[in-house]
Amino acid sequence: MRVSLSQKLRNLDVSVFVELFDAKNLVAEKGMSIIDLSVGSPDLPPPPVVMQTIQKWAADQTKYGYTITALPEFKQAVASFYENRYGVSLNPEREVLQLMGSQDGLAHLAMTLIDPGDVVLVPDPGYPIFETGVRLAGGTPYKMPLLEENGFLPRLEEIPSEVLAKAKLMILNYPGNPVTAMAGREFFEEVVRFAKKHELIVAHDFTYSELVYDGRKAVSFLSVPGAKEVGVEFNSLSKTFNMAGCRIGYVTGYEDVLAGLALYMSHTHYGIFYPVQKAAEAVLRMPEETIRSQRLVYESRRDVLVSRLKEMGWEVSVPPATMYVWTRIPEGWTSEAFVFRLLEETGVVLTPGRAFGERGEGFVRISMVQPSEMLLEAAMRIGRFLSANRQLKGSVR
Ligand SMILES: Cc1ncc(COP(=O)(O)O)c(C=O)c1O
Repeated sequence: MRVSLSQKLRNLDVSVFVELFDAKNLVAEKGMSIIDLSVGSPDLPPPPVVMQTIQKWAADQTKYGYTITALPEFKQAVASFYENRYGVSLNPEREVLQLMGSQDGLAHLAMTLIDPGDVVLVPDPGYPIFETGVRLAGGTPYKMPLLEENGFLPRLEEIPSEVLAKAKLMILNYPGNPVTAMAGREFFEEVVRFAKKHELIVAHDFTYSELVYDGRKAVSFLSVPGAKEVGVEFNSLSKTFNMAGCRIGYVTGYEDVLAGLALYMSHTHYGIFYPVQKAAEAVLRMPEETIRSQRLVYESRRDVLVSRLKEMGWEVSVPPATMYVWTRIPEGWTSEAFVFRLLEETGVVLTPGRAFGERGEGFVRISMVQPSEMLLEAAMRIGRFLSANRQLKGSVR
């Protein structure tokens, strides 16, 4: 019997990450050493309290049943973290919902809110699940261009009124992936006014809230007056505490949206492994120093990588936040051609900007998920690649 996939699934593009993975393996088989700076999976260890707590509870044979929902102490720890870090007061019972990573909530948000015919405003370029989640729910994504000349913020006043008439949800992500830009308080205030005027729900993905450099601080959308009446904010322990494989995150804010998502999840989820919830609770209660030390690691990686690439003749952009460099490629290439050729010739794997939407064309994303020595080696190889491809010499910015 031939399996025919659902129309919804057939409408999705095959991810460029799959092609990149296959190409990487082919290059490795030829004997070239690979430096993989494509996927944003943290290479740093979680704080010791995470492993200690998991070990402790994993030894308890009574903790292997379904947890069904979040432990109250986990929700309280999230509320305290939000109060301490962002000055946002949350009711732990009604304004915090546990997720199996922020991806889990982002993937199902549209299922909870969107019917066919509804429009969702998504950033372009943007993290792929924003758009995919909408398509899977049968909604229609409207792509808000994030352009360099606008500080990578969407121009809300340029969204056509016929789109707004059908729009129900707007998704934002600052500091973001792949665009590492940060949003200020004024922008979020404008978003709240806009959302109220056009009756939009706002979902802000704040996964990179703590990977912010040069003494800056990211603004929580929920810290803006009125935000909790229109929006929710997704966050995660994956990047802040290097717990990506533990699959734990949360969403906070507008309680009616959280209640909808909780209803959806009551049909699809049976809760997160108890030791993981306890570890998350413990680490959320750690002093800020725990986060500061790993922030410094990324900051120094960024400085090393950016300055070496500049020395090699590539004027890359300096990210203010996140674990990525998002930068223009030399003229004369598509982002996919650049990335695949670079991989074949040097073994360095980057992500083509096009993987994040049409407006990602002309850019690449470099993940700083390797120690500085490897980033330096990658920069050397990239530099040699750039000068070997002579036709580019004049156009390397
Ligand atoms: C912007 C953004 N949101 C969400 C996620 C998913 O993270 P989590 O591990 O919490 O599911 C990622 C992961 O890379 C991301 O970059």
